[in-house]
Formats: sequence, structure tokens, C-alpha cells
Amino acid sequence: MNFLPASHPLVDGRTGDAPLIRALRGDRPESTPVWFMRQAGRSLPEYRAIRADHRMLDACLTPDLASEITLQPVRRHGVDAAVFFSDIVVPMKLVGVDVDLVAGRGPVFANPVRTAADVARVREEFTPERLHAALDPVRDAVRLTADALGGTPVIGFTGAPFTLAAYLVEGGPSRDHLRARTLMHSDPETWAALLDWVADLCGVFLKAQVEAGASAVQLFDSWAGSLSPVDYRERVAPASRRTLEPVRELGFAAGEGYAARPRAVPIIHFAVGSGHLLEELADVGVDALGVDWRTSLEEANRRLGGGIPLQGNIDPAFLGAAPEVLEAHVADVLRQGRSAPAHVLNLGHGVPPETDPDVLTRIVALAHGA
Ligand code: CP3
Repeated sequence: MNFLPASHPLVDGRTGDAPLIRALRGDRPESTPVWFMRQAGRSLPEYRAIRADHRMLDACLTPDLASEITLQPVRRHGVDAAVFFSDIVVPMKLVGVDVDLVAGRGPVFANPVRTAADVARVREEFTPERLHAALDPVRDAVRLTADALGGTPVIGFTGAPFTLAAYLVEGGPSRDHLRARTLMHSDPETWAALLDWVADLCGVFLKAQVEAGASAVQLFDSWAGSLSPVDYRERVAPASRRTLEPVRELGFAAGEGYAARPRAVPIIHFAVGSGHLLEELADVGVDALGVDWRTSLEEANRRLGGGIPLQGNIDPAFLGAAPEVLEAHVADVLRQGRSAPAHVLNLGHGVPPETDPDVLTRIVALAHGA
């Protein structure tokens, strides 16, 4: 195990016992910790004001902008964690892959990676070492953010290999990721080589965020829901595990002297539309599982044998409903969350851009017992 430096927020007393970190360890802090996927983003006017002058990837790669955007929802809503403002394609961009984020369309890769020769070419050119050397904008942004936040943890994240591969193979967004899933079966060796390459890059991206001051991480496998359990288990889970290895090797000592025990950096796993994959997602070896809104927390907890803290799962459709309708839904999610060993309140997917930010602030107050 490699130990985090004494100045890391998990080690120096700032975040090691923050409500989010306690819940991810399986504890029940006084009130349920809450954050929102995509909380730093288009629902906030202060975010839109910054983005009016900066393209998405430029904002991600300019440390003071990325840090300011990461801090905005913490300031406004009082959430229990910041999620680092970045995107799943950032490691690809930094290693030199020709990719852009096109508003209203999605990630667009100029050179899709579809054949054994394509995979060999990208593996040779775009190496983890090259990414490691290009990550200073990410390290600087996380460091600035963690320093500004004090006791509020920063959550680092990465896309998972399947979700990124779905874009790389298609060249852009697709409905069922058919081309990627076809490659998985028509040429399993090339598929495995592609996923391992993506896993290594994402692992370097994730570890850099933790070393720079992130106190927990989330693996986002947005599109894993399009896979069958057997395909997920055999063709995808090994690469997701590989992505997490560099963070799993990082630890820190909690307590003093003989009482000191090694602790790990908490890892959350989340996939959209993945009710049929809960057991497989937990099996990747994570500390908490994000549940989307289609599966109730009680059912998820039952299926997982009460063995793992859960995160979620407010249905984003309720954010636009009447206050009493939303409140009843949030109360139900909190009630169901009590069946799990521990609960982090979140949405069942990202904040929709048209959300009234005051609604999110109200949910935080509800979670904190107001
Ligand atoms: O909670 C988080 O903020 C986690 C980080 C995260 C982001 N995007 C941040 C982001 C994750 C996991 C993603 C995933 C992602 N990014 C997907 C997968 C689908 C999904 O929703 O999970 C896709 C398709 C993208 C690509 C993407 N990101 C596009 C096309 C854009 C819009 C480009 C633009 O010019 O605005 C983004 C922007 C983006 N990614 C934002 C954030 C917070 C800012 C805008 C927003 O609120 O959506």
C-alpha cells in the first residue's frame, strides 16, 4: 500500500470523519449526507455566466475556472461534497486523442477506434506515461478546490472503460452502443485490449485526483445498463476493476500509535439503468453503490444482502413537481435509505439543466433535517 501524504485532507483531519466519508465507511452520521451528480453545471446561473466565455473542455482544463465551478454548488446549496468539475473525456483529451464535447450532441472522436490496428495504434501513441505528464491542470484544480473547501470532501471521478469505449468505437453518441457491443463479441481480444488501455488511462486520471486532494472517488459507468449481466461480468468488470487498482493501492493511517489502522480511499460505483446489474456492479469491489431511480433502495438493499452502503436515488422527474410532491418523494427515499447499512442521498442520474437550483437547496435542507 502507498500512503497518502500527511497533508492530504483525509489524513490531516479535515475530511477523514466528514459525514460523506463516514457514510461510505458504513456509518450513520447525525444527518444523511447529500450531493448531486452534475451539481456543478448548467442548472446554476453562475455556471452559465462562466461558460458564456469558455468552451467546456477549456473550462475543465483551466484550474481556477474548474475549481470555481466545482465550488459553486457547495457555496449555494451547502451539499456535503463537491464533485470535481471535469468530464469523462478529459483523460482522452489530455493524452492527445482528438475529441470534442459538442453541446446538444455529445463527445465526438475524430478517429473512431474500431479494429485491431486502431487499438494497437492508440495503445502505442497514447500511453499512461504521456497522460501522467499532462495532468497538471487537473492536479492544480483539485488542489485549489480541496484547499478552499476545508472539511468538505472533493469527490474525484472517472468514466468507466465500457462507457468510454462505447464512444471511442462509435466515434460519437449512439443509442444501444451496438458497434461497441458487436466488437466485444466479434473480436474479444481486441475488445479486451481496448478496455485495458482505457482502464489504464482512467486509473492514472483518478489517482492524480486523489493524490491532489480528492477524499473519495466515483466510477461512472453511464452506459453499462445496455449490457447483459454475463457480458458485464466477463467482458467489462475486469477493466473496471483495473481502473480502480491505482486508487485501491492508496491508503492512509487513521488513529495513533498501536491503534492506527490502514484505511482505504472510499470508492462509489454508479451506472444508469442498471437494476439488472446490481450484484455485478457491487462485485467490482467498491465501498458504496449508486442506484438509479428505476430500482428502489429497499429492493437494492435486499438484493445486495444488506452488505453495502447505497447512494441515490431521487427521480430527477420530481425536481419539477409541486413542492409537497417532491418532499414526499424525498422523504420516501430517505426512509428507504434507512434500510441500507448507510445512505448518501443523491439523484438517480445527473441534475437536469432546467432544474430550479432552489429546489436542490431545499433537498439539502430536508436531508439535513430541516
Ligand atoms: O457529477 C458530475 O459532474 C460527474 C462528472 C460527469 C460529467 N459528465 C460532468 C459534466 C460525468 C460522469 C459526465 C458524463 C458524460 N459526459 C456523459 C455520459 C452520460 C451521462 O450523462 O452520464 C456524456 C455524454 C458527456 C459528454 C458531455 N459533457 C457533453 C456533450 C457536455 C456538454 C458540452 C457543453 O458544451 O456544455 C458535457 C458537459 C458536462 N459534463 C458538464 C458537467 C458538469 C457541464 C454541463 C452540464 O450541466 O451538463
